[in-house]
Amino acid sequence: MKILVTGGAGFIGSNFIRHILSAHPGYRIINLDKLTYAGNLENLSDVENNPDYRFVKGDIGDRGLIEGIEFDAVVNFAAESHVDRSIIDASPFLQTNVVGTQGLLEVVRKRNCRFVHISTDEVYGSTPDGLFAEDSPVMPNSPYAASKASSDLLVRAYHETYGIEAIITRCSNNYGPFQFPEKLIPLVIANALEGRPVPVYGDGRNVRDWIHVLDHCKAVDLVFHRGRPGEVYNIGGNNEWLNIDLVRLLLSTVARRTGKTETGALGLITFVEDRAGHDRRYAIDASKIGRELGWRPETGFEEGMEKTVEWYLANREWWARIISGQYREYYKVQYGQRLG
Ligand code: NAD
Ligand code: DAU
Repeated sequence: MKILVTGGAGFIGSNFIRHILSAHPGYRIINLDKLTYAGNLENLSDVENNPDYRFVKGDIGDRGLIEGIEFDAVVNFAAESHVDRSIIDASPFLQTNVVGTQGLLEVVRKRNCRFVHISTDEVYGSTPDGLFAEDSPVMPNSPYAASKASSDLLVRAYHETYGIEAIITRCSNNYGPFQFPEKLIPLVIANALEGRPVPVYGDGRNVRDWIHVLDHCKAVDLVFHRGRPGEVYNIGGNNEWLNIDLVRLLLSTVARRTGKTETGALGLITFVEDRAGHDRRYAIDASKIGRELGWRPETGFEEGMEKTVEWYLANREWWARIISGQYREYYKVQYGQRLG
């Protein structure tokens, strides 16, 4: 089985590649990634010499390039993923998440292969109570969410029109190793360690459902192998937190593990202007994937959070190289000679 994983140099894609290589010996992975600011091949330094792994630098919208690659199936993680950036400039979001996905779908259509599209719970929009199920309407509020919802609709249309074997997954907020430090959890940990203010948007009472990235990867693995074409599967942690409570928990954990005072750490919290159109609450019903495929999250939140803080403490160099911009050099040094 040769799987084309797109966006594999990002947070979830790199965790997924590592998971597949260890869970399915003999599978071959081709990682197609454009290496935007969010792509970091250091995330995969431990597998880069694995004969079952190959990296190709490229855009999911580049049909000519992708047509020249041999593969049996696609898992599409590639996207512009950060809501705040989409508010500043939506164009790259439309280009990659919508136009890029359509380019990829064209190749899949010709190849007639399985296609798993990684989407998000943000497509359902915000709800004060209750849970979104797979048949809830899409009501995206940010340009990011609108671009993801648009790509979902295209995937659905290609399945209905051309019969491609496409499946969509919609997951809630991931946390874990290798998350780009613009996202809430790594940002809080890095700022706490460097004594910088920790920005909390608005009143901090927005709610997100958090799931460990490996639980997400295992769910995608199951959907990839056993999911029904044409279906959508929600993936969630059943683990809702107010942002402010999560930030306090993170700061207390960092303080405890580094011998700093909790009061000092909590004192870094700085309420800042709210995100425009900030969704108040995301919450999904993930019972379908449990019922049909037997999936459930395995990582307890306390344990997952401890391990995550530990990982960012132990891998300070990894995120410090991102903050300083040095991580951009890795590709040139490791791959420049090989790929030109
Ligand atoms: P990320 O920003 O960490 O990584 C995205 C990767 O895609 C990067 O390596 C980037 O270089 C690559 N990329 C961007 N544009 C590309 C293009 N045109 N062609 C090829 N590669 C390109 O994102 P992430 O957090 O790992 O999210 C991965 C996917 O999962 C996204 O589709 C996102 O919408 C979805 N998702 C994320 C979360 C989350 O909590 N992070 C939750 C649910 C769904
Ligand atoms: O729900 C899934 C989505 O989760 C994914 O589709 C997105 O790709 C991913 O980025 C994430 O989106 P969020 O906007 O929920 O994640 P973020 O880490 O940016 O923010 C989490 C919450 O914390 C959100 O309510 C905004 C708030 N926040 C964020 C940052 C970066 C702050 O209060 N301060 C901050 O500095």
